[in-house]
Amino acid sequence: MSEISTSIRKDISLYCSSCGATFIPDMRLLACNMCQEPLLVKYQEISTSPHMEIPVDSCDVLVSLGEGNTPVVKMDQLRKRLSCGEVFGKLEFMNPTGSFKDRGTAMMISVAKGFNIASLVEDSSGNAGSSVAAYCTKADITAHIFVPSSAPKPKLDQISVYGAITHKIEGTREMVTDAASNFVEEKGYVYGAHKLSPYFLEGTKTFAYEIARHNSGEMPDHLIMPVGNGSLYIGAWLGFKELIFKGVISKIPKMHVVQAEAVKPLVNQFEGNDNKDPVGTTVAGGISVSSPPRSKLIGEILVETGGHAAAVDDEDILEWQKILAQENGIYCEPTSSSAFAGLDYFIRNGVITKKESVLVAVTGFGLKDNLYI
Ligand SMILES: Cc1ncc(COP(=O)(O)O)c(C=O)c1O
Ligand SMILES: [Zn+2]
Repeated sequence: MSEISTSIRKDISLYCSSCGATFIPDMRLLACNMCQEPLLVKYQEISTSPHMEIPVDSCDVLVSLGEGNTPVVKMDQLRKRLSCGEVFGKLEFMNPTGSFKDRGTAMMISVAKGFNIASLVEDSSGNAGSSVAAYCTKADITAHIFVPSSAPKPKLDQISVYGAITHKIEGTREMVTDAASNFVEEKGYVYGAHKLSPYFLEGTKTFAYEIARHNSGEMPDHLIMPVGNGSLYIGAWLGFKELIFKGVISKIPKMHVVQAEAVKPLVNQFEGNDNKDPVGTTVAGGISVSSPPRSKLIGEILVETGGHAAAVDDEDILEWQKILAQENGIYCEPTSSSAFAGLDYFIRNGVITKKESVLVAVTGFGLKDNLYI
């Protein structure tokens, strides 16, 4: 293991949420060597100040492109359509590369810089790839991005325009991950996988801090997001836990998971359904993840916060993409509109009652994807 760099906070370790083992921070260590569970960052001391804990020494060393502080809009047309309580959309597509990923990437690349990493490998359905490509350019790190050759052209263009080396892989999303892992082994580069990196989750915590700040500590009753690997879902939960510890908030919203009908491992897990059917294809490419490495933790968060997991089909996802654009002026990609199809489902099924407030993460911009509607 490499020495802890000067700009990495000295009181952090990595820990396994499954068996509790702890490890010295390292960019190459992504899973517990006892039980293979991906790791989380642990701070020896969490201050009681309302500021977010970060794994680097100070904000001065952050590699930033101005991510975060995304707007929250009140969605009154939607409220009328669904005859429900207040609905807010947090416009994550206003991040620098057009998706929420920038929150996590900023932190992951800041840590990579702290470890003097020269080359980084990522695999992605497109958004994490373009985000890593942009932040690596800013940090002067060479980015190798593995993507399915079927990824939407705007995402592929975005990755290459930032100057990253794109590796287009024919085949399933899993084959892309395998190709990236083989390349890492062959070249000895660092695998900066957003789905495994503990530092990425430290960045997505900002989502929770902003919700708390926006509402002066008042939490919405429900939080809904599209979930594949859970990098926003878990990071938001970590942020809420930290805010509870610091005494800034007193409750965590019910954190709901939305997946596509064709690829729904987390919904199957939530329903106790041991479904081993082959996965299908979906227009929601960002959540087309057949075996999320942190599924155990996601299941625990669902139970702890009282959240539900629901699957929605492509027809509903595209219908909601249209409704958002044509009734609310919000153009998001299908992966993101799936969360609104989920909201509709949760209201119809009584998971969300008509008096409760909801915040939906609008995770990625419409122009990044193909238009199917
Ligand atoms: C627009 C968008 N929303 C949601 C997600 C899901 O993120 P995660 O896989 O971290 O749960 C992704 C992932 O690529 C995405 O691109
Ligand atoms: Zn473990």
